[in-house]
Amino acid sequence: MTANENMTVDLVGRPVHRVGFGAMQLPGPGVFGPPRDRDAALAVLRRAVELGVNHVDTAQYYGPDVSNELIRTALHPYPDDLVLVSKVGALRDDAGNWIPAQRPEELRAGVEANLASLAVERVDVVNLRRMDAGHAVPAEQQVSFDDQAAAMTALRDEGLIGGVGLSNVSAEELQAALDGGLDVACVQNPYNVLSRDDEPTLRLCAERGIPYVPFFPLGSAFEHMPKVTEHPTVIAAAQQTGMSAVQVGLAWLLARDASVLLIPGTSSVAHLEENCGAGAVTLPEGVLGRLDLLG
Ligand SMILES: NC(=O)c1ccc[n+]([C@@H]2O[C@H](COP(=O)([O-])OP(=O)(O)OC[C@H]3O[C@@H](n4cnc5c(N)ncnc54)[C@H](OP(=O)(O)O)[C@@H]3O)[C@@H](O)[C@H]2O)c1
Repeated sequence: MTANENMTVDLVGRPVHRVGFGAMQLPGPGVFGPPRDRDAALAVLRRAVELGVNHVDTAQYYGPDVSNELIRTALHPYPDDLVLVSKVGALRDDAGNWIPAQRPEELRAGVEANLASLAVERVDVVNLRRMDAGHAVPAEQQVSFDDQAAAMTALRDEGLIGGVGLSNVSAEELQAALDGGLDVACVQNPYNVLSRDDEPTLRLCAERGIPYVPFFPLGSAFEHMPKVTEHPTVIAAAQQTGMSAVQVGLAWLLARDASVLLIPGTSSVAHLEENCGAGAVTLPEGVLGRLDLLG
């Protein structure tokens, strides 16, 4: 089992394997509090690196400070080739609610918190996680994108972060950011074989050579979202190819465009191994065509 050696994409100038790892499933239920099984969570991270994963996505607010602490405990001192990607733009309250933290000074505080909890002098990439329509954003949190971009660029110029990514941005917002001169290290938006509203952003990333990192690649752990592995066409594709339904969903994403980098989230070593295996398989054209029609 290998994590798709020979298949890399440059992320802030460093080659990362196309199947990475998302650390959001490591904290407790609702991405809140300690993991159900701490030893298992640490084992997942260590196994990921063994499998060649060198792109790990996290956030200070996963837990909060649970995913980052686990990453530090499991992997520090970090392998030279590991690219750690975090996010700023939110906090958690004592009940686990997601609180916007979009103001420039809050973005800086978020980066500083990541530096401390990951025990690094620079976070390789930090995504500015914009709040979307699903979140109630109070007036004081409705900050101009230009001010946020300036704050993130300043953090990069000071060397506290290696690159600025964007998360939860539309294609129009990405285009405006690029037109404004922002050097965008990657884009992280929700997208999978069943949920393709973000196709325009993926296409823009593909045109501009910007790594596109779909979150919820399998449909997430959240109950309200359709699960990729439950769709009859995905199940049929798995039966036809001998792959698992998970691997069909992930391999479809990899085939979508060469700019795509995956960060499937899991709390299980067995699931991690299955996910990494998706980097080593190729879907036949006919199967790809039928999956394409789901969008
Ligand atoms: N930028 C953002 O706003 C944002 C938002 C959400 C997520 N993210 C990032 O994106 C990553 C991926 O998204 P996600 O974790 O929410 O959703 P996901 O990867 O689509 O799905 C995670 C769910 O799939 C299950 N799963 C994973 N591999 C499996 C396998 N091989 N077999 C069966 N079930 C499997 C996990 O359960 P088990 O734990 O049991 O495997 C979990 O319930 C996150 O970890 C996070 O790093 C970013």
